[in-house]
Amino acid sequence: MGIKQIIAVASAKGGVGKSTICANLASYFAQDFKVGILDADIYGPNQHILFNVFNSKPEVKTVDGHKSFIPIEVNNILLNSMGFILDKDKAAMWRGPMLSGAIKQLKELTQWGDLDYLFIDMPPGTGDAYLTVASEIKPNNVLLVTSQSKLAVQDTIKSKTMFDKLKIPMIGVVDNMSHSIHPVSGEEVSEFDLIDLEDETGLKVLGSIPRIRDLAEFNPNKLSSFFEPLYNKIVKITS
Ligand SMILES: Nc1ncnc2c1ncn2[C@@H]1O[C@H](COP(=O)(O)OP(=O)(O)OP(=O)(O)O)[C@@H](O)[C@H]1O
Ligand SMILES: [Mg+2]
Repeated sequence: MGIKQIIAVASAKGGVGKSTICANLASYFAQDFKVGILDADIYGPNQHILFNVFNSKPEVKTVDGHKSFIPIEVNNILLNSMGFILDKDKAAMWRGPMLSGAIKQLKELTQWGDLDYLFIDMPPGTGDAYLTVASEIKPNNVLLVTSQSKLAVQDTIKSKTMFDKLKIPMIGVVDNMSHSIHPVSGEEVSEFDLIDLEDETGLKVLGSIPRIRDLAEFNPNKLSSFFEPLYNKIVKITS
């Protein structure tokens, strides 16, 4: 069976919540599906930190002279990340071709087994990592993440143009941190003049995730119900 569906969680803008969305969404999916996460952010991997496995090392197996990694299993999710393998100070000096090679190897040399969904936590940008993921890993779909800042929205449009050129389908965009939840009334409150993301980007908004403390301090043992609508839509689109 292999990997049925690869979804890259991406944005050109840094810090809009890709890693947070990726970790929460994968956790939600792991209730019902076989799930993996590939952390493709070589310069700033985060998933091993979010899942509290930063001291783990994937076992390396050599079969017929070929090296492979056994991914770390955490909360029913198979995880591999350069964060486990690399000296991050060395990786920070890498140039494009080394970075591309590392991402490709991380995907190919990991024994993912049969997975329903592999989520790729992408680095910010539109550079080499994106070209490698597009050409070598070939995700079935991309989920873009944005905040409501004008700059993030402009970068989302840039990302969309790039994925269109690379012919990778985008399932939609996640509107992250545009509102918070009033602690007493439980109502949605926003300090922003909200931008119509569907109008601006031409993409469907699949979910709107509030800016809340529980998400700022991701707990792999506690699912956030804010991800349920997003989960349902993605399952529907991809099955
Ligand atoms: N919905 C949210 N509510 C509260 N805090 C959030 C939320 N989403 C993200 N954050 C916080 O915002 C910061 C940036 O999030 P995150 O690291 O997930 O973004 P990113 O897009 O992956 O960043 P990078 O581009 O550096 O990889 C983190 O401190 C995270 O805890
Ligand atoms: Mg990140």
